[in-house]
Amino acid sequence: MCGIVGYVGNRPATKILVEGLARLEYRGYDSAGLAVAHRKALRTTRAVGRVDDLRAAVGDDESPGRTGIAHTRWATHGEPSERNAHPHTDAAGRIAVVHNGILENADELRAKLAAEGVALRSDTDTEVLPHLVARALDGGSPSLEEAVREALRSVEGTYGLVVLDARHPEELVVARNGSPIVLGLGDGEMFVASDVAALVRHTRQVVFLADGEIATLTAAGYEGSRLGPPTTVDMDDADFDLDGHPDFLSKEIYEQPAALQRMLAGRLDARFATARLDGLHLDPRELRGIRRVTFLGCGSALYAGQIGAGLVEELARIPADAEQASEFRYRNPLVDPETLYVAVSQSGETIDTLAAVEELQRKGGRVVGVVNVIGSAIARQCGAGTFLHAGPEVSVASTKAFSSMVTSFALLALLLGRVRDLSSAHGSRLVEGLRRLPDAVETALESADEVEAVARRYADARSMFYLGRVRGAAVAREGAQKLKEISYVHAEAYAAAELKHGPLALIDAAMPSVVVIPDDELLSKNISTVEQIKARGGPVIAVTNAEIPDGLADAVIRVPRLEPELDPILLGVPLQLLAYHCARALGRDIDKPRNLAKSVTVE
Ligand code: F6R
Repeated sequence: MCGIVGYVGNRPATKILVEGLARLEYRGYDSAGLAVAHRKALRTTRAVGRVDDLRAAVGDDESPGRTGIAHTRWATHGEPSERNAHPHTDAAGRIAVVHNGILENADELRAKLAAEGVALRSDTDTEVLPHLVARALDGGSPSLEEAVREALRSVEGTYGLVVLDARHPEELVVARNGSPIVLGLGDGEMFVASDVAALVRHTRQVVFLADGEIATLTAAGYEGSRLGPPTTVDMDDADFDLDGHPDFLSKEIYEQPAALQRMLAGRLDARFATARLDGLHLDPRELRGIRRVTFLGCGSALYAGQIGAGLVEELARIPADAEQASEFRYRNPLVDPETLYVAVSQSGETIDTLAAVEELQRKGGRVVGVVNVIGSAIARQCGAGTFLHAGPEVSVASTKAFSSMVTSFALLALLLGRVRDLSSAHGSRLVEGLRRLPDAVETALESADEVEAVARRYADARSMFYLGRVRGAAVAREGAQKLKEISYVHAEAYAAAELKHGPLALIDAAMPSVVVIPDDELLSKNISTVEQIKARGGPVIAVTNAEIPDGLADAVIRVPRLEPELDPILLGVPLQLLAYHCARALGRDIDKPRNLAKSVTVE
């Protein structure tokens, strides 16, 4: 969740570090800091707030040092404050550490260090690390790498970390266990970060560290016993520009047609009226042997999975469900060898989803990943699956990755259906619908002005209901999630029919309801839900691709009709716009909503 950047080379490090942190700010943004080594001493600067606050704290007084480490933080242990910001150093100010993850035995280690007379200066778990490394060096460790190894032997928990020794500024030591670390290979310089976003300005040649790996970086290269070969990442710095948009969320919402085009490229098979998902590594016989599909994910990835489960049941006629990955491993799940488990994650780093994958694999389950970030932990752990190719998603709220996930599930459901009883005519209809989907999303985006007007009208609401049935139910859940996270307006999603079993009591003129109304066999039921709300004085915003009676709702937002199975994707688009424009009307920090961070790598 926090961001890490490190540099060793021939250029002054500070600017490179600050620029790298700015790229990672979406990872966490309550405080930031850096340490640069020069003339055998560290210069450490830390600031509460954003990377710009750190930039201001550094000012013009930049160290000429050519090796440094930096961090942007999302607080876990200890409030956001300057003293809790990273890097943390040992008592002598020789060793500096930036760390992502959580050290579970930190309290015990802190108590031990305190008993030995070490004065701890922060409330963080991380601070034990520089003290432990310094102790190992004082105790005769032959190198910084050895000292880091020794220190890590006494910690329990997760880490992605970078260590700098003021007395050896020619090197950095990096280690990973559960939190991403990626090396960037430059020409006469080396970079390290928790995310390739911070590296692509300098290099596209990267090495992903696996859990348990430790490496030493110098300007000349890197050394580590078990490191894989470098890979070339398929993105560049321009992918992280706003490209004329006021914020990344807007950019990413409008990128959806292009993202879906990439997701679908080479995956539609018109001849056999099916989908091609070669990355699953499942032949038709294995596909036929699957008796159930279970999607696992958190937050929006879970809601995407719920839509996916509906699609699999509808098209392949096998049972399917979606589970909160965060609950999965703790409830001692029954793992069924005939179930296909699908781990869903934009970042590929969500610790709860990763842990569910590991639990499944321990119990002999077959799990594939549906992931956006190539090289991420979940993608590598699964070893098979589907990449979304949605491009970097920088805004904390997921939009284009969500739509891409659902589209990939439509492909999966089509594939599973076509090795069973789904007719070729039905398959062809879906293939054609999917082919037209990017354009239809483009048309759905044309509702933006209307949605903005609706948002202005209702953004002051204290709370909103989001309602839908069957195909519309998970769409409503995702819509409510978007509103909550970026506008801070409370929203609750309900299966529409459940409303009358209790929550209808909350309906009054101050409680708007967003009702998702697909043009399907439940249209008349959804219309009566709207009537029930209206009869109690509640305002209704209808999001629909159906013909609904004039004057039924207070506002109607229309999306194009395509194939009914693809309705959830199209009906979801105005809900993203609604959340976006409510957040704008309320002056929220759209890309970096309070308390949240992209990629949740702590439990
Ligand atoms: C919502 C959102 C989160 C993520 C969730 C899972 O807009 O972004 O709910 O969907 O934290 O993240 P990934 O998909 O990276 O596993």
